[in-house]
Amino acid sequence: MHLIPEEHQMLSGEHGRATQKAMEILTALGTIYEAEEMVPVTSVQIAGVSFDNLGEAGLEFLSEMADGGGQARVLTTLNPAGMDIENWQALGIDPEFARNQERVIDAYARMGVVTTCSCTPYLFGNLPHFGEHIAWAESSAVCYANSVLGARTNREGGPSALAAALTGRTPRYGLHLSKNRQPGLTVRVDAGLSGTRAFGALGIVVGRAIEARQVKAIPYLRGIPTASVDELKSLCASVATYGGLAMFHIEGITPESSQHPAPDETLVVTQGDLDEAIRSLDVPTTNEEVDFVSLGCPHLSLNEIQRAAELLKGGHVRKTFWITTSRPVKRIADQMGYTEVIEEAGAIFAVDTCCVVAPIKGRFKRIATDSAKACYYAGAKNGFETRFLPFDEVIEEALK
Ligand code: F3S
Repeated sequence: MHLIPEEHQMLSGEHGRATQKAMEILTALGTIYEAEEMVPVTSVQIAGVSFDNLGEAGLEFLSEMADGGGQARVLTTLNPAGMDIENWQALGIDPEFARNQERVIDAYARMGVVTTCSCTPYLFGNLPHFGEHIAWAESSAVCYANSVLGARTNREGGPSALAAALTGRTPRYGLHLSKNRQPGLTVRVDAGLSGTRAFGALGIVVGRAIEARQVKAIPYLRGIPTASVDELKSLCASVATYGGLAMFHIEGITPESSQHPAPDETLVVTQGDLDEAIRSLDVPTTNEEVDFVSLGCPHLSLNEIQRAAELLKGGHVRKTFWITTSRPVKRIADQMGYTEVIEEAGAIFAVDTCCVVAPIKGRFKRIATDSAKACYYAGAKNGFETRFLPFDEVIEEALK
C-alpha cells in the first residue's frame, strides 16, 4: 500500500502506541483487500460496545488503546451498549454487568469518542453528506449512509472502526470505490408500501433473494416513489440483516442512483411476497402470550416518539414495553413532554441500548415489534417468539 508521510509516521510510532497499533490494523486490512492507499474519513461510528459482545478480551483491547494515548481525530460516536447508561437499574440489568459496561464506556471516553450510543447517529448530528468517506460499523447505519445519504463506507468491524477514529483514515477499497457501488439487479416493487413494517418486509424479500444468489449484487429498487426517514431506516436494517447488504439504490432517492442505468436482470416483488415475509415472522397464535413489546430497532426518531406518545396518552401498558432511542433524541422528547406521557402510560425508555444488544435472554418469551431485524435476533439470539406488527399495532398490543 502507498502511505503518505504522516501515515508512515503513525505506523512507525511517532504518534504514540495506540495510533501505531491502529495504523497496523488498517494497513493489514488494506493489504488483505488490495487497497492501493488510505482515504481520509470525516466520521466514524463504532460497534462492539455492549459488554455482552466484547467480553473481558475486548475490554482489555480498548483499555490498552486508551492507555496508549489513542485520541479520536474525527467525529466518532458509538453503537448501542448493553444497557441504558444513566438508567440501567430500571431495565433490570445485573450490577456486575453494569460495572463492566461502564468500564467500556469510560475507555471510549478517554479516547475522545462521543459516548452517546446509537445505531442512528445520522438523526443527531453525525451526519455525513453525499460523497464523504466515512468508517461506520453498525450494519443498518452503514446501509443508510451508503444508500440514503450517499456517503461511502464499508461495514467496519469494531477494531477497524476504532482504528479509523484514531488515525482519521481507512483503506480505500470496497464501497469507497465507485466501481463497487454499481447495481447488479433491478428489483421492481409491484406493491404499495407504507410504514416501517412494510419496508422491513421488503428488506426481508430482497435480502433473502440476494442471499440466495451465488454472487451478491447491489439491488436497484424501482417503484418506490417516496419513503420517509423512518421507513428507510427500517428497510436498511432489514436488508442488512436478511441479505448482508451494505448498500442498495432506490431510483430517485439514493443520491447517485441516476448515475446508473437499471440492470437488465429483474426481480419482481409483489404484495404476496411481502405478505409471506410478514407471515414468516408474525405468528398470531401460540401457547405464549406477548410479554415484551419493543419499538426502536433501529433507534426511534423524534417523529416516531411523538407518535408513540400520541397513542399512549391516557392509557396504561400491560406488558414490559421498551422504547429504545438515542440520548440526544430522548432529550428533545423530554423537552417536548413526550417522555412524561410515555412514562405515565408505563412504558420504559431504554436509551443507549436496544432489545438485541441488552442481556435479556430468558427474561421474556414472546416479543411484539415493528422491526424485521429485531424479530430476527429475538429468535436467533434470545429464543423469543415474535409478532411482527405495524408500528401503531405494536402499541395496541402493549395496551391490551
Ligand atoms: Fe440498532 Fe439494536 Fe436494532 S443496534 S438496528 S436497535 S439491533
